[in-house]
Amino acid sequence: MRFLVLLGLAESVVAAACSRVGQRVLHLDRRSYYAANWASFTFNSLLTWIKEQNEEPKPEEVKDWSSLMEEGEELIHLANSDSASITNLQVFSFTSEEEEEAPNTTEEEKAADEDAVKESSETESADSKEEEAGAAEKEDQPAQTEGEEPEADQPLPSSPSNPSEPVRKKISYAQLVKEGRRFNIDLVSKLLFSRGSLVDLLIKSNVSRYAEFKNVTRILTYRHGNVEQVPCSRADVFASRQLSVIEKRKLMRFLTSCMEETEEQTAYNGRPYLEFLRNQQLGESLQHFLLHSIAMVAEDTPTEEGLASTRHFLRCLGRYGNTPFLFPVYGLGEIPQCFCRMSAVFGGIYCLRHSVRCLIVDKDTNRVSLSLFATPSTAWSHD
Ligand SMILES: *[C@@H]1O[C@H](CO)[C@@H](O)[C@H](O)[C@H]1NC(C)=O
Ligand SMILES: *[C@@H]1O[C@H](CO)[C@@H](O)[C@H](O)[C@H]1NC(C)=O
Ligand SMILES: *[C@@H]1O[C@H](CO)[C@@H](O)[C@H](O)[C@H]1NC(C)=O
Repeated sequence: MRFLVLLGLAESVVAAACSRVGQRVLHLDRRSYYAANWASFTFNSLLTWIKEQNEEPKPEEVKDWSSLMEEGEELIHLANSDSASITNLQVFSFTSEEEEEAPNTTEEEKAADEDAVKESSETESADSKEEEAGAAEKEDQPAQTEGEEPEADQPLPSSPSNPSEPVRKKISYAQLVKEGRRFNIDLVSKLLFSRGSLVDLLIKSNVSRYAEFKNVTRILTYRHGNVEQVPCSRADVFASRQLSVIEKRKLMRFLTSCMEETEEQTAYNGRPYLEFLRNQQLGESLQHFLLHSIAMVAEDTPTEEGLASTRHFLRCLGRYGNTPFLFPVYGLGEIPQCFCRMSAVFGGIYCLRHSVRCLIVDKDTNRVSLSLFATPSTAWSHD
């Protein structure tokens, strides 16, 4: 029997792997939800979660378990460490706490959003989800060509060419609470690189079948008080309205040339990537896009690392969409949960709201003969 505590990503992957090769798995967590610190919550359950996190932990009951011990056994206490990796939670609200009259446009847009959400939540039932092939499975099909169809002419949110658009969406706190079930919030926000190792694992393990993915359709960056779209694919570059023709050419030349290692690049090894970019005669905007939005590195990151990140970004383009990123439709919490599901399909046993306080170990064989749980106080015996 394998025995895993915490339903985080790593534990869930191990649980799925062990179950898949026929081992017996008992997987527990003292929490009432899956995915530990990777969980995704609706706004309302996030508020509940914050409240619980801020509560003083109850003093631990000390129990004497020694009556359960037999000759040659040893008691090992486990710390009730919830590895308090998330601490000092505070809630700031940047919206009005009052109920405001929302502008009519917002209502319409919301209605449109609502339809979209409804559509996707209708497919949420476990069965239909199972039938629907995960996005990642589209791997079998030939990769979409690197964004051949330019579709990047959606106006940007604060595009300077559109100054007559004063409507800023406003939402009051009360509305947010009311609509809180319509979106999920991840405790940790992460995206999946479409050719990254997690996507590979999801495909190889067939776990992608249990989840639905969406691609990120565009990448925005904040610069000089504006939100700008980062051109990442060839189509984006050509469709971009922010770049001059010369900049477009320079960017294309750079993106093509950086895929291969050149002597010019290696000459910059150990020196900042930003310095390398500056010396490529790229203008300020291109440097900004490349450093912050494509390589996503710091100004002092060495050139070889910056180039490696840039190449990874470029390699991930076009596999599933216009950007290199995918995300699970219902939040990141889906991923550990899907591995748990796979473990359960292959016989893994799942217990929420159970924590392990101590183990009784046989001194000779070094095997656990009994584990003692605190909530509810039970003792489980296993071989
Ligand atoms: C908003 O809609 C209501 C009715 O739905 C209407 O009476 C009101 O005039 C509209 N306000 C604006 C600013 O269009
Ligand atoms: C994934 O599914 C395929 C086809 O159903 C099967 O052949 C393969 O063994 C599965 N892989 C794992 C790791 O379960
Ligand atoms: C990615 O997005 C594009 C455009 O929105 C869409 O056509 C495509 O089907 C999406 N791919 C996946 C795998 O969801």
